[in-house]
Parts: sequence; structure tokens; C-alpha cells
Amino acid sequence: MGFHAEYSNYTSQTKEEMLQQLLMSYEALSSDCTNWVANLSNCASLLWHGYHSLNVPVNWTGFYVTHKPDELILGPFQGKVACQTIQFGKGVCGNAISSGETQLVEDVHNYPGHIACDGETNSEIVVPMIKDGVKIGVLDLDCLAPNGFDKMDKEYLEKLVALILTSCEFPTLH
Ligand code: SME
Repeated sequence: MGFHAEYSNYTSQTKEEMLQQLLMSYEALSSDCTNWVANLSNCASLLWHGYHSLNVPVNWTGFYVTHKPDELILGPFQGKVACQTIQFGKGVCGNAISSGETQLVEDVHNYPGHIACDGETNSEIVVPMIKDGVKIGVLDLDCLAPNGFDKMDKEYLEKLVALILTSCEFPTLH
């Protein structure tokens, strides 16, 4: 890899290949860096370019992190400006962190309590990031298309979160 920016160029044809490439790129980029801001920033970019390389219209890829008890704050992301804070138990992100379960939302308009940061979003997936019982934050992807994400996205994004949790040092903000 000559330049860091080349990790944004995907050569994959299928979604599974794209997700595999994304995991390998994240591993390579985080192999000599444990800083969570740097790693999550590059990860948000890898996600943005990966989905767009397959013409999946993701309109937000990024993170919220716990910054005080029971509250998430906006972290590194790609896309339009978003809500700064989300309470645990509120919206898709707050439910993911409270329950510890990935939220795969085919249609955000049918999700009770969905927090609309962008009225154009139609589907969403949120994976909780929990390490040794500590609620670190969430990975959040939004899509303009309904049904933008499926079980394959869930499987690989959960693998990505597992890699994030082993590769990053998070401050004790929580
Ligand atoms: N829709 C999220 C809020 C965050 S934005 O999508 C970036 C939710 O309901 O928690």
C-alpha cells in the first residue's frame, strides 16, 4: 500500500468481499495505532467508501461513545452533521447500548423512538461496543434505502466491533 488513502479504493465485487476487505484494511491500519480517535476516524472512512463502492447509499457511518453515565456523545463519523448526545435507552443507538444487542432496522419509520438526525434516512444498523462489561459506545450506519442492511452486514459489523475493541485503548470516560 503506497498511500494511506489507497485503503479507500475497494477492489471487491460483492458485499461479502467488500466487508472482508474492510476488516483487513482496519486490521492493517490499527496494527501500529491504538488511539481510538485515529482508529475510529479511519474506520468511519473505510465504511463510507466500502458501501459507496457497491453503490449502497449509506448517508452516515460513524460512532457514538459514552462520555458520562448513561449518555452517548457524537464520535468520529462520515456524512452530514448529526445529533450530539443520545441518552442510553433512547433511539436506536441508545437501545443498542442499553440492551447490548445489535439493532437491525429495516424501516426507521416503524421503529418506536427512532431519533431522526436526517429525515432522509430509511434504514439503520447499530452495533454496541461493550468491552469487559463496560459500555464503550456504538457503531452506527444509516442508509437512504429501506432495507439497506441485512444479516451479512450484522455479522461483519459485529466482527469489526470485536476488532475495534481489541485494537483501541479507550479513556475511562464511563
Ligand atoms: N438514528 C439514531 C440517531 C443517530 S443518527 O442516525 C446519526 C438513533 O435513533 O439512535
